[in-house]
Amino acid sequence: MLTLVGAGAVGVTLATHLAAAGKPIRLYARHKDQAGFAAAGGLTLDRPRRAALKAALPPLTDKLFDADTRYLVIATKFGALDALLAPLRDAPPTLTVVSTLNGVRALPLIRERLPHLQSTALTIMFNAQHSGVLHAQLTTKPAVILADGDAPLRALLAGTGLAVSHSQGEKACWGKLLINLANAIGALTQSTFRDLLSDPDLRAIFVATLDEAVDRIEAAKIDYKLPMPLPYRGYRALLKYGGGATWWLAQVKNGLDDGAYPSMVSDVRAGRTTEVRQLNGEIVALGERLNRPAPVNAALVQRVEALDLAKPAVLTPKVLRHALGL
Ligand SMILES: NC(=O)c1ccc[n+]([C@@H]2O[C@H](COP(=O)([O-])OP(=O)(O)OC[C@H]3O[C@@H](n4cnc5c(N)ncnc54)[C@H](OP(=O)(O)O)[C@@H]3O)[C@@H](O)[C@H]2O)c1
Repeated sequence: MLTLVGAGAVGVTLATHLAAAGKPIRLYARHKDQAGFAAAGGLTLDRPRRAALKAALPPLTDKLFDADTRYLVIATKFGALDALLAPLRDAPPTLTVVSTLNGVRALPLIRERLPHLQSTALTIMFNAQHSGVLHAQLTTKPAVILADGDAPLRALLAGTGLAVSHSQGEKACWGKLLINLANAIGALTQSTFRDLLSDPDLRAIFVATLDEAVDRIEAAKIDYKLPMPLPYRGYRALLKYGGGATWWLAQVKNGLDDGAYPSMVSDVRAGRTTEVRQLNGEIVALGERLNRPAPVNAALVQRVEALDLAKPAVLTPKVLRHALGL
């Protein structure tokens, strides 16, 4: 049995695939959500260029683990994680905690708080938006990367329509972190992925952000694997000189929809706290540890955190580039 925590964009996307394939899952959501869930009737996932995927509502639970729970898949934002981990101190050692969270902080936190449990990363390579109660919109292929070879978890994900690939250790989390550094640029300029990969000013900002991050990650001898068939230097050349090729590659490789945007864009629009500290902030922290500051990423963190979430200012790409001194 797998218990899925959180019925937002990622939670609904995973739950719909698993429930539609008849996999044994339960949904752990906040108590306040439960009346709305009953009214929604079931799970709906809109998909690009395909019919929506629908599934019956899986059983709801108000317990993070029951006697038969083998996997607890956490699909909340980082801010919710700490409170979720406290009751897991009493969980049996047969439970594996699976983090879908962006960034690289969630797993170390889970391991520090719950040393008696197994834990692993399910890196989310798709992009999805939460569009209503038990309703999400997928804007890419439904790809995920599972760290190492947890065979029973692999079997649970098989045949669900999720495209599952594998990664050694947490290399994929660091690679995904690099791609997610663009989210802050998107949030400040309210840009789509297409804008981020096509507009010359946004691309120049992304290259500078990545250069700084890759330098600090390599200096710290951290193993990372970009989620693409190119080493960083190749991707950088594509971003810098490739014209429309970067957007074309993203469409072919990830099936990105034209209007898709990073989830930090919707966080800012909805006035929610962002995960910028777990993304660009991770590079800033790494720079501090190495005594090698990361000013571009630091400025992005500072600017996102300074946004008035009641009425967030939107910068043009040119103004942001100029403000960052690039
Ligand atoms: N969306 C994407 O495309 C995407 C892609 C890759 C990775 N990720 C990562 O995946 C994680 C989840 O993102 P998301 O986009 O799915 O976020 P989201 O749409 O905001 O969903 C998070 C869900 O968790 C629920 N939640 C929070 N605390 C909870 C608790 N204690 N118990 C039960 N439910 C709780 C929230 O409920 P409330 O609404 O009531 O707060 C919300 O429904 C993040 O780390 C994100 O960076 C997202």
